[in-house]
Amino acid sequence: EKGSFAHFMQKEIFEQPESILRAMQGRIEFENATAHLGGLNLDRQELLNIERVKIVASGTSYHAGMVGAYLLEQLARIPCTAELSSELRYRNPIVERNTLYFVVSQSGETADTLYAMRELQRKGAKVLGICNVVGATIPRESDGGVYTHSGPEIAVASTKAFTSQLTVLYLFSLFMARMRHMSFEEGLALVQAMDGVPALLQQVLSRADSIQELAEKYSYARSFLFLGRGINYPVALEGALKLKEVSYIHAEGYSAAEIKHGPIALVNEETPSLFLVPNDPLRDKVLSNMKEIKARKGPVIAIAVEGDREVAGIADDVFFVPNASPIVYPFLLMVPMQLLSYYMALILGHNVDQPRNLAKSVTVE
Ligand code: F6R
Repeated sequence: EKGSFAHFMQKEIFEQPESILRAMQGRIEFENATAHLGGLNLDRQELLNIERVKIVASGTSYHAGMVGAYLLEQLARIPCTAELSSELRYRNPIVERNTLYFVVSQSGETADTLYAMRELQRKGAKVLGICNVVGATIPRESDGGVYTHSGPEIAVASTKAFTSQLTVLYLFSLFMARMRHMSFEEGLALVQAMDGVPALLQQVLSRADSIQELAEKYSYARSFLFLGRGINYPVALEGALKLKEVSYIHAEGYSAAEIKHGPIALVNEETPSLFLVPNDPLRDKVLSNMKEIKARKGPVIAIAVEGDREVAGIADDVFFVPNASPIVYPFLLMVPMQLLSYYMALILGHNVDQPRNLAKSVTVE
């Protein structure tokens, strides 16, 4: 039940420090600076033979998969791509040797993803699931997998399930990386960064009021851009999806670098752009993308890292998240955008838990 919260979406956003912890519980080995995931059903040799990983999912789960692809490549140096279930299924997919497939699905019932999994299995692929609902069709029919343990997600718009999916993908990437080239020290740094995420998110959530103020200020907008780069590019896509779903405001997620190739034509005084500005190696590039928008009189909101004065000098409004290891910013940048969508929907008077035209699990193609 909702307890002291007004809506399930609010409850589920605020629950994330605990749900992420549940996804990590019993899976981190500090002493070996690695993770272990029980249900992979792959022996040591099979794990070592993996040359490629493909992640297949829809909607929010697809965005988590895109972050996962980045992690597997960066941390474990394993080529990885994420793909939409509905597209993969009808492409007569090529199943290559030594390729591991993951399907990611909160409900475990999404038709597009289930049928994609069956098609891959028919072609001889080994498909693992990353699912939340225990005993759903995908976890039953998959060749193994990992539960996210977020607990029931009731609001139609996915929030805590996304950050739990990320958590599992971080753990899997860490595990694969440590079986390959990642040193103990690097592994330990990642384990510690992950371990710190729940407390950092608690700090973000304690400042929800200032996101509510931002939502009030920008609720006039009929169109929004969400911009990020690198590992936070899919996070920007997810921010845009959240806003569309619950506030019915048109939103586009884009790579901040890509806006000059077209979408910048949308920018005017009434079209805000929300930039994700972590202090990672792409930060300076994002700042110049921000300046391009300001030069065209577009309102700019930034989600940036505490102490970044330069960002505050360019953007009209900044929401600061705590300083962290760059790899874990997807968690810290996502939650403020979830809150923004939630408050926007309330301000505009929409049914935030059950947005029009949407169902929690999409069991038709
Ligand atoms: C977004 C949302 C949808 C789902 C998508 C996949 O908030 O709820 O985009 O993410 O329908 O659903 P699952 O993860 O259940 O396969």
